[in-house]
Amino acid sequence: MATYSAFYIQENEDGRIQRSVVKRDTGDLPGNEVLVKVQYSSLNFKDAMSAHGNKGVTREFPHQGGIDAAGIVEESASGDFKPGDKVIVTGYDLGMNTPGGLAQYIRVPAAWVLRCPRGLNPRRSMLFGTAGLTAQLCINKLQRLGVTPEKGQVLVTGATGGVGSIAVALLASAGYDVVASSGKAEQADWLKAIGASEVIDRAEFGEPNKRPMLQERFAGAVDVVGGDTLGNVIKSLKAGGSVACCGLVQSPAFEATVLPFILRGVNLLGVDSVEIPLPAKQAAWKQLARNAKLPAVEQLNKEISLKQVPAALEELFGGKMIGHTTVKIGR
Ligand SMILES: NC(=O)c1ccc[n+]([C@@H]2O[C@H](COP(=O)([O-])OP(=O)(O)OC[C@H]3O[C@@H](n4cnc5c(N)ncnc54)[C@H](OP(=O)(O)O)[C@@H]3O)[C@@H](O)[C@H]2O)c1
Repeated sequence: MATYSAFYIQENEDGRIQRSVVKRDTGDLPGNEVLVKVQYSSLNFKDAMSAHGNKGVTREFPHQGGIDAAGIVEESASGDFKPGDKVIVTGYDLGMNTPGGLAQYIRVPAAWVLRCPRGLNPRRSMLFGTAGLTAQLCINKLQRLGVTPEKGQVLVTGATGGVGSIAVALLASAGYDVVASSGKAEQADWLKAIGASEVIDRAEFGEPNKRPMLQERFAGAVDVVGGDTLGNVIKSLKAGGSVACCGLVQSPAFEATVLPFILRGVNLLGVDSVEIPLPAKQAAWKQLARNAKLPAVEQLNKEISLKQVPAALEELFGGKMIGHTTVKIGR
């Protein structure tokens, strides 16, 4: 048993949520097969939801947060892993109702663990984290439906966020003409520096619009926003175009008619990075490894310490964060 530091979310008797870094004991972790000494984690919107007491993400508090972790196997009761293996754990129940990766230790089922692919180490993998995995899965779905760079512009909504900024960088490096939609006009130069060719105000697509179809504009889109934004993006796809839908920061609900689907043959593609089978995650991580040294990916990331997590999650929850944040947990 060892004492370790963890980002901890507690619910007071009056229902108020408290966020802090506390000492925990590895003996209190669940009895799963693989004990991982976490070296890096990263921040996601879901971490901010859990840290703000969202019971749809975390049913019971106190709770050790963090849906991402990368580090070194310290103990393993599974033949698939041995001490010293470099591993990545994202999604499934990590950081939701299982003690998460914003801590020096996690103990998880072997079925959630994947070996760091060649080209990635714990730090480099968390430059992507769940955000990068999701961006890659969105791009894969668009490509499967024929959205190639020659087909025209691709829109990314929530572009200064974690998923959005990594999607901008990955799409640009794959040769796409990327339009970034953002509520932060002052970050237009930053978005262009990581790969956007054009930046539009999020209000352009974020307001309700009763017209059943809008001007055909985009060959594809990565949407992290949902709500009216998603409804308007669907109406703005070119014939045969596709939108990969993965988020809900504006709203989980959106209004639509069948018209863009039956008159333009557009596609609405759902993306889940959490519960997909491990081999599918492994394949996407191998793709990310090929972009591990992309300058834009380093550029859009900032690194913080575990102590800085409570304040950083406030910022993220308020939609004020720029880019993706990695958390250095330990050696
Ligand atoms: N399906 C999956 O497997 C999966 C995986 C990861 C994340 N997600 C979801 O994807 C979404 C984004 O996650 P993230 O970690 O990238 O979050 P994030 O870093 O907070 O980024 C979200 C971005 O959306 C924009 N935004 C914020 N509030 C908005 C509003 N009210 N209306 C319109 N835009 C708004 C902001 O960008 P601008 O200021 O640039 O507009 C913000 O930076 C979340 O809903 C998350 O739950 C899903």
